[in-house]
Amino acid sequence: MLRLGLIGAGRWGKVYIRTIEEMAPRLRLIRVATSRPENSWKDLVASPDCDAVIIATPAPLHAEMVRACLEAGKPCIAEKPLCFDAATAQALKEQADKARLPVLVNYIHLYNPATRALKKAVVSAGKPIRAILTEGMDLGPFRADTGTLWDRCPHDVALCLDLMSGAGPVSDFSAAGAFPDAQGRPEMVTLRLGWQGGATAWIQTGRLSPQKKRTLSVITDSFLFHFDEQAAVKCRRIPFDYPGRTEAARSGPLPKEGEPLPAPEKPAPMEVMLSAFADQVEKQAPLEGLGLTVELTRVLEGCAKLLKI
Ligand SMILES: NC(=O)c1ccc[n+]([C@@H]2O[C@H](COP(=O)([O-])OP(=O)(O)OC[C@H]3O[C@@H](n4cnc5c(N)ncnc54)[C@H](OP(=O)(O)O)[C@@H]3O)[C@@H](O)[C@H]2O)c1
Repeated sequence: MLRLGLIGAGRWGKVYIRTIEEMAPRLRLIRVATSRPENSWKDLVASPDCDAVIIATPAPLHAEMVRACLEAGKPCIAEKPLCFDAATAQALKEQADKARLPVLVNYIHLYNPATRALKKAVVSAGKPIRAILTEGMDLGPFRADTGTLWDRCPHDVALCLDLMSGAGPVSDFSAAGAFPDAQGRPEMVTLRLGWQGGATAWIQTGRLSPQKKRTLSVITDSFLFHFDEQAAVKCRRIPFDYPGRTEAARSGPLPKEGEPLPAPEKPAPMEVMLSAFADQVEKQAPLEGLGLTVELTRVLEGCAKLLKI
């Protein structure tokens, strides 16, 4: 049994509480800390009763709390974003590697069985990725401490980096934003990421859409793979002649339906993530490390500079 302490019991912390209850007896929630001084998070981290810690507080607190967990010898899950600059991400990675302690940053869509099924289909098709398109939209959540770039884009960038792992670092990127909030941070953000091999990712995120959207499309020379969290058929594979698309279009409209790919709806992504973390802590799986997070933070820090925020 893994005994967990949770820091932050707000909207998202409550989802942790529910999921951990459902995962008994493998997981058990021992302590919860909030901003109330009588439930100090430092006491929780130091408590010998907690084998590992979950950090679901506002983003500016994550780095300090992860550092304290590592100093106390505790594996931890941190909500995204881990931090706002690559130097801090790199320092935390080195601290975690040295301590040989798992630190998992929760990019929740990486633990969705449907996006995993899509990735598996892309990999088994065996062709290089030419393009990735993602959309992550909703109305809110509006947070005083984090704008769209750092609140929503980590999900999209994590999906792209995970798909492109092995292609080297992002070699160039650009960013555009619109509709600044009171602190000048754009509510809608578009990012373009490029890799040396010629692949490009196009990311559209925002919190001014009345319609919740989470889509991911991956284009190779022969197929378009598509995931849509809101659709009845979540994953599809559509035959698509990407290099010859203009020629192919002459023979009639492209079939957009394609074939459904098996996309399991269960277990819930948070359950998959907690189970992967428990495996890491119990050393049944290799340490995941913070490599993806360092690269993600480097890219978003660069985009923040381009957006002048
Ligand atoms: N991965 C995902 O899909 C996903 C989805 C939603 C949110 N998140 C992330 O989860 C985090 C929390 O979001 P939320 O929507 O749950 O926020 P929230 O509703 O504002 O809850 C924040 C929690 O943190 C606690 N807190 C604030 N300052 C603290 C401090 N100094 N010490 C200890 N606890 C403190 C608050 O305590 P009080 O209860 O005393 O106010 C509250 O319980 C954010 O980083 C967000 O990005 C991730």
